[in-house]
Amino acid sequence: MKKINVGILFGGKSAEHEVSIQSARNIFKALDKNKYQSLLIGIDKNGRWLFYDQASFLLHSEQVSLRKFSKAVKEIALVPQSQGKILNVSGLASKKSIDVVFPILHGPFGEDGTIQGLLKLANVPFVGAGVLSSAVGMDKDIMKRLWREAGLPICKFLVFKNKESINYKQVVKNLGLPFFVKPANLGSSVGISKVSNQSQFTKAVKIAWQYDNKIIIEENITGREIECAILGNEDLKASVPGEVKPSHDFYSYEAKYIDEHGATLIIPAKLSKNVIKKIQDLSVKAFKVLDTEGLGRVDLFLKNNGEIVLNEINTMPGFTVISMYARLWQASGLSYDKLIDNLIQLAISRFKKEQKLKTTYL
Ligand SMILES: Nc1ncnc2c1ncn2[C@@H]1O[C@H](COP(=O)(O)OP(=O)(O)O)[C@@H](O)[C@H]1O
Ligand SMILES: [Mg+2]
Repeated sequence: MKKINVGILFGGKSAEHEVSIQSARNIFKALDKNKYQSLLIGIDKNGRWLFYDQASFLLHSEQVSLRKFSKAVKEIALVPQSQGKILNVSGLASKKSIDVVFPILHGPFGEDGTIQGLLKLANVPFVGAGVLSSAVGMDKDIMKRLWREAGLPICKFLVFKNKESINYKQVVKNLGLPFFVKPANLGSSVGISKVSNQSQFTKAVKIAWQYDNKIIIEENITGREIECAILGNEDLKASVPGEVKPSHDFYSYEAKYIDEHGATLIIPAKLSKNVIKKIQDLSVKAFKVLDTEGLGRVDLFLKNNGEIVLNEINTMPGFTVISMYARLWQASGLSYDKLIDNLIQLAISRFKKEQKLKTTYL
């Protein structure tokens, strides 16, 4: 049987660059070598695409501090309409073309539809949400408005654009205290502040404007943070939910990536059958409303009165073996290796379906 060439696209211009490298290593190791062959493409922090040989990629794989790019071989580019040909900037990089891409990239330039658009132009199947859903899932304002339009529960929020002045008293009147100030398009809690007074507000707004021309201010939801993994294109499966218990004031960048004891993941979350079902149903709906395909991690709040509120979707969540998404599937009876295999097959079948569509009128 001819092996399927999987292009693993990792790194990227993102706060989660290092997480992505670790995810890529785990995916690389999990791929069934009888069925798949990996082509490793690293994107450095400047956005350059670099072609890796497997040996240099696996170097230092266990040492956290060395999880950065080792020797790259050559700079490459992906050719439009080429069915996955990769070009060395001074010639063809590989005799092999890519049959399917696993873009294990997070945040802007990875999870926001930009890479997905490039892969579409290259006419190559890829894992995960398409252009529209990736972009919408990245924008907390558009995402929440679509959920609201579908009648799904979300928090109260206000949106501001292009450094317009924001009246603190007006925000407090609308949302109460404390509240959250966030750049609309980002992830990893970068640029997010919890605000309890006017001076924190001034600082928070200044920080958020540094990262985006649109900011969202949300009422504070008090409750447990629950996450549910979704898998599938049309026929969707929801995992058992998990819980994140941050030891910080909220699940900040520090709690996620810097402080080793920043948060505890409880998998599966301790919840009644009835609540689990509600969370799974809501997560599937939230995924569908945004036209997401392949995979997504839906994050929600469970309030003390039992109400469930959607927080966000992550269309390309972290994929290290200790990441929530993969662990939720493990706890639901799907191993890491099988999960990766499923995701690649879902990408290929979506692509085949799209290829059947007419592209011309006559
Ligand atoms: N409206 C809110 N109410 C309570 N906590 C919030 C709210 N919004 C965000 N948080 C806290 O901030 C964290 C990061 O916010 P989130 O919107 O998930 O951004 P990111 O996309 O960066 O993960 C959440 O995991 C939660 O701990
Ligand atoms: Mg989040």
